Amino acid sequence: METKVAIIKDIDKDIEYLIEAAKIIHNGGIVAFPTETVYGLGGNALNAKAVEKIFKAKGRPQDNPLIVHVSSKEINYLVSEVPEVAQKLIDKFWPGPLTIILNKKDIIPNETSANLDTIGIRMPNSNIALKLIELSGYPIAAPSANISGRPSPTEVERCIEDLNGKVDYILGGEKSNVGVESTIVDCTVYPPMVLRPGGITLEMLQEVCKGIKIDKAIQGKPDENLRPKAPGMKYRHYAPKAKLKIIKGNKQKTIEKINEIVQNYIENQKEVAILSTDELCSNFNSGKVISLGSEKNLYDVARNLFESLRECDDLNVDVILCQAFDEEGVGLAIMNRLNKASGFDILEV
Ligand code: TXA
Ligand code: MG
Repeated sequence: METKVAIIKDIDKDIEYLIEAAKIIHNGGIVAFPTETVYGLGGNALNAKAVEKIFKAKGRPQDNPLIVHVSSKEINYLVSEVPEVAQKLIDKFWPGPLTIILNKKDIIPNETSANLDTIGIRMPNSNIALKLIELSGYPIAAPSANISGRPSPTEVERCIEDLNGKVDYILGGEKSNVGVESTIVDCTVYPPMVLRPGGITLEMLQEVCKGIKIDKAIQGKPDENLRPKAPGMKYRHYAPKAKLKIIKGNKQKTIEKINEIVQNYIENQKEVAILSTDELCSNFNSGKVISLGSEKNLYDVARNLFESLRECDDLNVDVILCQAFDEEGVGLAIMNRLNKASGFDILEV
């Protein structure tokens, strides 16, 4: 399949590309496009055939439902009910990195919801994404625009790397500003439950509804008795090709341990990359050091995380060592992605 690639630099001047991409979605094709969290791979959420194309292009397991992206807060045509607490979350956080799970109406095909009675919906905070949805005339079902299992793309080049030849159109635009996928909150239960941490933190959600809880299954190692309620969270995910190991401890011990492990690998002719904050970077004696940003702003770390994992793959290293972060604020989302990308290979020092 031939994939057209177009980059939007100015949304008004480049509107022809948006119109072209929207037409493709309108007619049942699939398009990669930017959002503020990560790039998405979209198709008409109400068209089962379009949705099947998305699953095929990504190599995505069939039991993993898609998130439906809308360009307005008026969603009654998609869901059977919007509970009061869901409406409050929508009013406060949309457009933005928050997906709300609600009971779906029949207009949404089972292919989109992977046979669940519920559906995840979000209104992205990206002018390109919002315009694309509006012009296509349909809500857009979109998982992250990566091959299943790989780190999500936050730049158009990574979509091209994964999807060129597999999709109809790749629409480039700004780099994703949040860098980790949306927070998912299940509002079919009360109190609502966070199924995946993301850019909207637990603390922010609890300001709207004190009782909001977090699905325990998403913090620990996958456990047959404790299945995550978001089907996608059970898969190994976000993973670079190299082996990723997380080192967890106070600063001094983390630095010493990383230097020790790097030395061992180098003696065995292995290439190692180190992912760490600006503050720690200068303490490593060898290995390829990549900064994730300052520890003072974990939103920078979140923004750089997936791209840094992909950079490590470009460097062809065998092993990546990464420091752990406090699981507060957006740190919870960062650690959730690191835990899964490493297959829970966490060394406490
Ligand atoms: O930020 C995002 O959410 C990005 C951008 C493109 O919007 N999208 C994204 O989609 O991360 P994806 O497909 O990579 O992840 C969707 C997650 C999966 O873990 C899936 O299992 C869960 O959402 N999910 C979708 N619908 C659900 C439902 N009805 N109930 C529970 N979990 C659901
Ligand atoms: Mg994904």
